[in-house]
Amino acid sequence: MRACASCHGESGLGQGPIAEFLTIPVPGLNRLSAENDGAFPMLQVIQIIDGRTGVRSHGEPMPIWGDLFKTPLVGGMGDYGAEVIVRGRVLSIAYYLESIQE
Ligand code: HEC
Repeated sequence: MRACASCHGESGLGQGPIAEFLTIPVPGLNRLSAENDGAFPMLQVIQIIDGRTGVRSHGEPMPIWGDLFKTPLVGGMGDYGAEVIVRGRVLSIAYYLESIQE
């Protein structure tokens, strides 16, 4: 709700309140499996959300969540601890997206 719904919508259908202000359409996130021959593209989704690996095939508007989730943590627990938490968060989001596929 906090990180993704503003663009992708509360139900993940791509109609969040700021979607209309972007210059490119915001995709819905409930057809990722359907568009991948019925298999949820887990690794790709993780890398798209994280954004630090450079594999993201789309344009710029998607924030680099790996960095945004990590920055506030590093001071308190160091680089390694922060990285573990970031990966856990991204994975949790990916599992959630898997659960809302049509
Ligand atoms: C500022 C608006 C914005 C926010 C916030 C945002 N996204 Fe996106 N997202 C986009 C746009 C625009 C695209 C398509 C173009 C691109 O990838 O940049 C996209 C693409 C995606 C894709 C690829 C969809 C496909 O069909 O290939 C996934 C998965 C995704 N976002 C997940 C998330 C998740 C999870 C969050 C929250 C952690 C999030 N997004 C937050 C704008 C946003």
